[in-house]
Amino acid sequence: MHHFHPLKATKVSRETNDCIHIAFEIPENLKYKFSYKQGQYINVRFLFGEEDLRRSYSIINAPSEDHSELEILVKHLDQGKVSTYLNHELKLGDIVEVMAPSGHFYTHYNATNEKTYVGLAAGSGISPVLSNLKEALYQEPKSSAYLFFSNKSLNEIIFKKEIDDLVQKFEGRLKVIYLLSREKHFEDELFEGRISPEKLDLLFQRFTDIPVQESTYFICGPSEMIKGIGNYLKKDKKVPSLQVMYEYYAAPDDAENSEMSDEFKAIPNLESMVTLIIDDDEYSFHLNSKKKSILDQALDDKLPVPFACKGGVCCTCKAQVMEGEVFMEKNFALTDDEVARGFVLTCQCHPTTNVVMLNYDV
Ligand code: FES
Repeated sequence: MHHFHPLKATKVSRETNDCIHIAFEIPENLKYKFSYKQGQYINVRFLFGEEDLRRSYSIINAPSEDHSELEILVKHLDQGKVSTYLNHELKLGDIVEVMAPSGHFYTHYNATNEKTYVGLAAGSGISPVLSNLKEALYQEPKSSAYLFFSNKSLNEIIFKKEIDDLVQKFEGRLKVIYLLSREKHFEDELFEGRISPEKLDLLFQRFTDIPVQESTYFICGPSEMIKGIGNYLKKDKKVPSLQVMYEYYAAPDDAENSEMSDEFKAIPNLESMVTLIIDDDEYSFHLNSKKKSILDQALDDKLPVPFACKGGVCCTCKAQVMEGEVFMEKNFALTDDEVARGFVLTCQCHPTTNVVMLNYDV
């Protein structure tokens, strides 16, 4: 179920100095596997010598658009082997191993809705936000959308042409406000700087047609932005949690994470027999609760476990607890409902009972 498929790159085009826009062709026989929802992501895999490196990239397209290709944006990171390869070596026609889309950064649209959607994106965080806003506009003719999009400078605004074209296409239903954090370009100071709670407060005061409490929000950017804005909307503006959706692209690195590590220190020290169900096969191994995560041990044992970020962000390693209990260090991907139903991120899990059984096939 978590297999990689060879897809051909049918577009490799430079979007900004440090971002590449890639499209993969979806062959007819894989269309059902690669059907996707707005805001989902794909995992890609590269083997560099002994290293099996996997990365997740959000899909830019909306399901209501053409389905013959899947498009992603890859930002070059200085130490990133995969992003460096994709930015500087990938060529048109190259084959890349890609896993079918997953993720749940989306809401359900209905043609009778008359809602307001607000996208809040920074830099490459635009991909899943744009996918969601496009789908909302295609699916709900009476709904409208706002996009607040921050970039460093005018030249670095990602997908500016496509976004400006969408503003024309959805006449009056999509409003876009660009903010620049490192360049003074607009006369109005309101459009300088990053998206922060204070900035959003000022933007709401200016754009008074946004029904703040009733709107649905899609947020993607650095973790401090997501946390700050999420708290501001939910606590200060009393927006119901279900209307505030966010997607992390890296695990937050802050005090709260270390507190979670303290919780990990407090779990019992025991030996466990862990059994994993993967594609209808069962694999078992012994694992000490204080040592490696269940995923790391499974990878050491060369088991065919699905994974990508290994940081509790992407959800690829999700499994359901069938027997026993585990401690999950971090979770930036599963919903409360999934956790209540026994789903866990195995890259973050340690056994806390002598017998544990997890099922990846659910
Ligand atoms: S591998 Fe990404 S959440 Fe576990």
